This record gives sequence, C-alpha cells and structure tokens, in this order.
Amino acid sequence: MAMARAELRTVTVRSSPLPRCVLSRLLPLLLSVSAIGAASAAPLKFGINYGQIANNLPQPTQVSGLLQSLNVNRVKLYDADPIVLTAFAGTGVEFIIGNDDLYNLTDARKARAWVAQHVQPFLPSTRITCITVGNEVLSGKDTTAMQSLLPAMQTVYQAVVALGLGGQVNVSTAHSVNILASSYPPSSGAFREELGQYIQPILNFHAEVGSPFLINAYPFFAYKASPGSVSLPYVLFEPNPGVVDPNTNLTYDNMLYAQIDAVYAAMEAMGHSDLTVRISETGWPSRGDEDEVGATVANAAAYNGNLMKRIAMGQGTPLKPHVPVDVFVFALFNEDMKPGATSERNYGLFYPNGTPVYSLGFNGASFSPSPTYSSSSKLVITFQMAVVVLLASFSILHTAVPCHA
Ligand SMILES: *[C@@H]1O[C@H](CO)[C@@H](O)[C@H](O)[C@H]1NC(C)=O
Ligand SMILES: *[C@@H]1O[C@H](CO)[C@@H](O)[C@H](O)[C@H]1NC(C)=O
Ligand SMILES: *[C@@H]1O[C@H](CO)[C@@H](O)[C@H](O)[C@H]1NC(C)=O
Repeated sequence: MAMARAELRTVTVRSSPLPRCVLSRLLPLLLSVSAIGAASAAPLKFGINYGQIANNLPQPTQVSGLLQSLNVNRVKLYDADPIVLTAFAGTGVEFIIGNDDLYNLTDARKARAWVAQHVQPFLPSTRITCITVGNEVLSGKDTTAMQSLLPAMQTVYQAVVALGLGGQVNVSTAHSVNILASSYPPSSGAFREELGQYIQPILNFHAEVGSPFLINAYPFFAYKASPGSVSLPYVLFEPNPGVVDPNTNLTYDNMLYAQIDAVYAAMEAMGHSDLTVRISETGWPSRGDEDEVGATVANAAAYNGNLMKRIAMGQGTPLKPHVPVDVFVFALFNEDMKPGATSERNYGLFYPNGTPVYSLGFNGASFSPSPTYSSSSKLVITFQMAVVVLLASFSILHTAVPCHA
C-alpha cells in the first residue's frame, strides 16, 4: 500500500462537487428522524486515515463536517496538505501528518524550512501532534531510503525543537508489520535480522525523544494468503476459542492483538520495554478481485465494527492489558485512483459522496461500551448509526441541487 501512495503522491486532485440529488431523496427521512441523532458525547477513541488518492472526494471543509458529525477527532494524513490543515482549524481534531521526502529531510536547513512552512503556521489552531517521516520504508527495497530514515527523523525532530514545538509534536515513522521475521507465538516476535542495523538505533531514538512506535497491520493480508488455515472469526474479532501462547500462557482471540504483542516482544528483544506501540493503519476492504478471498462488505463491517467496539471499551492486549489499543482505521474514503488490486480502492468506510459503505453497527454519537447486544438493541443501534450517517450526508450535501435522472 505504501508504494502505491508514494508513487501517486503528486496526482492527488480535487474535483468539482458530486451530484447532490441524493439529498432531496433523503431529506424527508432526515427531517423525521433528526432529533434522535442530535446527542453529543465524548469523542470516539479511534482515529482515521484520510487518504486522498482520488479525484472525486468532497472538499476538506465538508470532510471536517462529516468527521464532527461522526464524533471522530483524530485524523492521519499522508502529507501536510495545507487546505486540509486549514479546514480543520479550531475543530480540536488532532492530526498526524506525513512527509516522505527522506532525501530532503536529512538536510537540516530543508527540514527546518519544511516544519516552519508546513507545520508551525497551523499550530495551535490545528492540533498537529505527530509527524511521520516516511511510510513503510524498512519493508521496501530502497536501501538508500532505509539509511536516510533515522537521519531524517532526527533532523525533523531537531527542527521541531528548534522552533519551540518540542512538547507539542512527536516525530515518528510508520512501519509495515512485515518488518517482523516472526510474529507467532507473539512472545517469539522478532524483527527481520537484516533490519536490525536500522531498527536498533530507531528504537533508541524513540526512547530518547518519547515518541510512539507506529505499525501498519492488516490481518486481512494473512487471511487472504491462507484462507484455508487462518480462522476468519480470529481475524474478524468474532467469538472463537482463541490461541494460547505457550511461552506466556496468554490467550489471543484475534490476530491484530497478537501482532501488536509480537512487536512488543521484538522491541523487548532489542532492549526496549520503554516504548508504546500504536497502530497507524489497519482496516479491511469491502470489495476485491476474485482471488482476494475475504474482501466483502460483511467482513469489512465485522472487522471495523468489532475493532471499534473494543477500542470503545479501552481494551489493551493480553500482554499490555492496561495500555488501551490505539488505532487509526484505514480509511475514511474509498480512493478511486489507487493502482493495484481492486481491494486497494475499497478500504473506505465511506463512498466519496459521504454515504457509508456499510453500517458499523454502533451509534457514532454515544457508542455503547457493551460488547454484547441483544438483537433488539442491536437494531436500535444500527438505526441510530444510520441516522448519524444521514446527518453526515446532510452536512456534506448541504447545497441541494435538482436530480437530472
Ligand atoms: C526537495 O527540495 C527541493 C527544494 O529545496 C524541491 O524542489 C524538491 O521538489 C524536493 N523534493 C525532492 C524529492 O527532491
Ligand atoms: C507523543 O508520544 C508519546 C508516546 O506515545 C505520548 O505519550 C505523548 O502524548 C505524545 N505527544 C503528543 C503531543 O501527542
Ligand atoms: C503455563 O501453564 C503451565 C501449565 O499450567 C505451567 O506449567 C507453566 O508454568 C505456565 N507458564 C507460565 C509462563 O506461566
């Protein structure tokens, strides 16, 4: 996924608004149920990746409205798009932003100029709390980039400190879970040996500056690769007997938590029990090619819906039960210009016009902390979610235009 994004970095385009005729059809329903969706509550605890490799996305100000109506207040970008950062000023939404230009960022002057121009001016009204330098660099093939990764992180960090933003903005990078050579059982987690020369000093850097270790993890890939041997309930957070790690006796009932704990074990093996792991991307596609087993609407809804329920409960992993799992779901929208398999263009929770790809089975405004619902309360919650989503569509499609059907 990382490579595709990097290649297409320059083709991000914002097109004219979409047909808005949907609204006139939804309006009567919206008006009749709008009172139910009006409740507001504590923000949801998950973040969302706002990828923009598409030519049909709504304007960032409309996206800001959508996220506010969904009560999501953490967003991750792959760049530092000033239009987005400006659109979210004053909203309280927290941003992770990115810069993949490792070569330039190793130059102290350029790094400082970038932070001064693309980060500092938006603070504090837009809450930028983290910069990711590079995305999935160590699982790629570019050894020059691998060698530049830590120097670029250090230079950006020095720029952040020099500009007086040290306490406000973390500096990190996002890794693919493929940097692990072994992830099962989780206690045997280890980084790929040839990457040790890069990872060891990066771990030292994180410990020194106090920034989180970010991982992109997709149990979907493991399932797609071996649907015959990987249990679907285990990857979808559905009820299953779980698997016991023979070294710790800890029981794992889902693959994502096992992957997180494998990263903790790999870091521990390199002398670091002092770092926090966060999931900078995870998700499940709602559509795929014929050979992409498991890429369905039902599975995507189960994966993301079940994950969000666990996040709402503040659940930790078996190894770190008191450290709530922290995720940025991939992704906000389906992105029509991503190359590769059909699944790549179908990770979104929303179509570009703001309508949901599926119901997540919870009320975005007041998220129930209970993991189990009776079927009747589930219906109510699904209905309430539909209302929230309709309201969200309303805020995106706020200017009704006639249908030219
Ligand atoms: C690096 O910085 C220069 C300006 O200093 C800019 O023109 C160039 O586009 C940047 N990116 C790369 C990949 O060279
Ligand atoms: C930076 O990361 C650390 C470790 O995850 C976290 O405790 C801290 O709150 C982060 N700082 C900001 C400004 O988000
Ligand atoms: C795991 O359970 C077995 C059997 O009950 C026990 O012998 C072993 O000491 C346990 N190991 C750990 C690490 O708790």
